[in-house]
Amino acid sequence: MSVALHTDDLAVIGAGFVHLDYAATAPCVRAAADAVTALLPSYGSVHRGTGPRSQTSTLEYERARDVIADFLGLRTGDQVVFTRNTTDALNLLARALPPGTTTVVFDGEHHANLLPWPNPLRLPAPSSPEEAVAAVDRALRDLRGPILLTVTGASNVTGEVWPIARLAEVAHRHGARVAVDAAQLAPHAPVSLAETGADWVALSGHKLYAPFGSGVLAGRADWLDAAEPYLAGGGASAAVGDRIGDVRWATGPARHEGGTPNLLGAVSLAAVCSALAESDRAALHAHEQNLLALLRDGLRRVPGVTEVSLFGADSERVGIVSVALTGRDPSQVATRLADDHGIGVRAGKFCAHPLVRRLTAETGNAGCEGGLLRISFGLGTTADDIDCLLTALTAG
Ligand SMILES: Cc1ncc(COP(=O)(O)O)c(C=O)c1O
Repeated sequence: MSVALHTDDLAVIGAGFVHLDYAATAPCVRAAADAVTALLPSYGSVHRGTGPRSQTSTLEYERARDVIADFLGLRTGDQVVFTRNTTDALNLLARALPPGTTTVVFDGEHHANLLPWPNPLRLPAPSSPEEAVAAVDRALRDLRGPILLTVTGASNVTGEVWPIARLAEVAHRHGARVAVDAAQLAPHAPVSLAETGADWVALSGHKLYAPFGSGVLAGRADWLDAAEPYLAGGGASAAVGDRIGDVRWATGPARHEGGTPNLLGAVSLAAVCSALAESDRAALHAHEQNLLALLRDGLRRVPGVTEVSLFGADSERVGIVSVALTGRDPSQVATRLADDHGIGVRAGKFCAHPLVRRLTAETGNAGCEGGLLRISFGLGTTADDIDCLLTALTAG
């Protein structure tokens, strides 16, 4: 008899697809949809009004913030700012850097964590977690002034997990701060600022089973409180005088949440965070690792398919695997998988062009402009889904 891995709250909505493209956007789970349905009858304005709808909506919005703060292990004084997605969250942090801040990034980042930073110091993508820590140690040694190291929690290309706690430890030793792009880590593993020591974390609701348009930047309040508001307007302003420029801006999350917030996005994301926090994460992890082993073993047997990796075959990973294809165009293969077999995967460079170029070259496919084929999965994925993909890929 099979044992349910989780409660109905984490059941994926929608059946009949072999969806193996969770890293792009994960399906919605019941907790997110139920939270939206439950709130809609009293849906109203947040922080703008005194009526019962407004009271309930404001309460639920702030409750969502508290739930997410707990989920992300925030410390006293940390705050959760709601954004549209990870890209928005990292751009917000980039706008809040104190003058003269040096940002440090690795070449292996998603463009969302590569492009927002002004003149970043770019380090080559490392070949191991140890090399990442050593590279940061070397790079930070001679830097002065405010420094921000910003790094992914798990790669959207290889699924490999980065050594966040060790990077935070070495960065802090040099007086630097650390931001974690947890867009791909948070759907698969707990992410705690208190435990890792990282200063900020960014994530997207749509990758965390809550596709209602919200994301989060969570962490230290001081740089954010000292920065110009990200979106000038109502909500971000505490008082506005008659003369141009006579504005007293709000502090706290409101400073960067100008305009009417995305209540349903916040509440649905918090509902998923609650459901995940109450689930048996060790069992979910074990299930995911079993599927990963099945997938990687199977891929090894498919001719012309080579898994790519930065840190080596035995590195810790989440449910994301990318492969180079010899003699086949990844986008044509992805289209055929969809049209002939009803399987959704992703082909291309996954908004991580420098990393994909390097990994493709390492597999001897340097000229392969089509990039890689990526298979990614999560809640609701079964061994049958993986079998189905492997059979279709082997069929040619
Ligand atoms: C590691 C990583 N960071 C950031 C992003 C950007 O996420 P979003 O498009 O939700 O802003 C992605 C999206 O794929 C990602 O994989």
